[in-house]
Amino acid sequence: MSTHRVTVEVNGETHTREVDARLLLSDFLRHHLGLRGTRVGCEHGVCGSCTVLLSGEPVRACLTLAVQTDGEVVDTVEGLGENTEHMHPLQESFSACHGLQCGFCTSGFLMSLKPLYDSGIEMNATEIREAISGNICRCTGYQQIVEAVDRALHTRDSTDTETSESNDG
Ligand code: FES
Ligand code: FES
Repeated sequence: MSTHRVTVEVNGETHTREVDARLLLSDFLRHHLGLRGTRVGCEHGVCGSCTVLLSGEPVRACLTLAVQTDGEVVDTVEGLGENTEHMHPLQESFSACHGLQCGFCTSGFLMSLKPLYDSGIEMNATEIREAISGNICRCTGYQQIVEAVDRALHTRDSTDTETSESNDG
């Protein structure tokens, strides 16, 4: 069985490993790097629970080979907030709005949403539902998830406004 050397930056840290050519990114993250925040549900690209960012774009880690990340940058949920005291605004809003029940799907939702959050895009409830349509929550907490995203975007936009007003003097 062929192995390949993979060097990848994950959450700002560079890792080099010899991996099987067929090793999935989800298994690489969970079993080789010990980053178990990336969840594996369906294992065939449907549920979205394994979503991570590859060079800033959301990908299904269960459909991506570890070797495809050689020389790339991967971000997982572990890199999102510093700790429970300093969560990412999306995490804070999921918590405040009860956007999770068992939490199995949550890291996938968060990583799917992060690029949209960072882009500064505004979204109404319909657009938020569209944005999360690739992620399945078996606890069916969608309404709270939509509210959580809405809250996070409002917090982001009001912080941006305050910052630009204070910069204007
Ligand atoms: S585990 Fe990857 S999409 Fe479901
Ligand atoms: S919170 Fe349980 S699957 Fe989404």
